[in-house]
Amino acid sequence: MATGQTTRATRTVSQDSLLIRKCQGLEEMRACVALQKEVWNFADIELVPLRMFVVGEKIGGQVIGAFDRGELVGFAFAIPGLRQGHSFLYSQMLAVRQAYRNGGLGQRLKLFQRQDALARGIELMEWTFDPLEIKNAFLNVEKLGAIVRRYHTNLYGVTSSSLQGGLPTDRLVAEWWLKSKRVETLLASGVKPTFQTQASISVPAEIYDWRAKPETRNQAQAVEDRNREAFFKAFAGGLAVLGYERDAQGNGRFLLGRWEEEWGYAGS
Ligand SMILES: CC(C)(COP(=O)(O)OP(=O)(O)OC[C@H]1O[C@@H](n2cnc3c(N)ncnc32)[C@H](O)[C@@H]1OP(=O)(O)O)[C@@H](O)C(=O)NCCC(=O)NCCS
Repeated sequence: MATGQTTRATRTVSQDSLLIRKCQGLEEMRACVALQKEVWNFADIELVPLRMFVVGEKIGGQVIGAFDRGELVGFAFAIPGLRQGHSFLYSQMLAVRQAYRNGGLGQRLKLFQRQDALARGIELMEWTFDPLEIKNAFLNVEKLGAIVRRYHTNLYGVTSSSLQGGLPTDRLVAEWWLKSKRVETLLASGVKPTFQTQASISVPAEIYDWRAKPETRNQAQAVEDRNREAFFKAFAGGLAVLGYERDAQGNGRFLLGRWEEEWGYAGS
């Protein structure tokens, strides 16, 4: 099974025993670098180095860890950003060790990031994610309430990460408006905002297998190409990703609508 395609079967660890807090000191930051390598399997040249974690934390970013009896099993790393005079956080990485996935730890790390950001008066967090990653899209859009209005083609060039399968690093930009009614309501009550679906973009469950094997990689590439065009068209037409569906077979579907019309959208 490809690393991205984790299932509920991997949910083996009780999440209650896990502690989420800011990382302290060089050793904990070093553990983040090691976990980054384990999760993404990057070549060393592509790793975010220790010094960036140290600097990121010093200049208003976040290095937040999930610990199981003192051992780092997940982390979130963010750096500060500035746009049109407003500061925001750019979350560069979210990682959870394989055995700890699908128990809500990724979401808990994001929620800790949100609390810390709000406590410092920051109302927007952004990050990019791979449009072919069904699981990440579900977490970002459905569980956290992020919206998407931007697409980057081959943002980092082709990387050595085994999660990427040698495909161009296309990325969607998640905008998490931390104080919006959309996000506050979803997190407090699980109620999702209603909207009229104007378009949808599908990702087949087989994408993980197609991308993992050289002989089927062109099928994954075809999905990426087709969806890229569909996203550009939808975003140019004023649509945003406002919902995400997955079916019993594991297929994913981005749901797009008019973000201005959605109730309670308090962003920008
Ligand atoms: C992305 C990642 C951090 C999520 O961590 P996690 O602890 O598994 O996340 P959570 O359990 O909070 O949420 C994941 C949700 O996706 C669901 N999910 C799991 N596999 C899925 C799949 N193939 N398709 C759709 N949803 C899926 C989970 O069931 C869960 O939802 P649920 O709680 O409603 O059941 C982790 O998978 C990871 O480290 N991945 C590799 C690195 C990465 O891609 N990072 C993000 C980009 S920087």
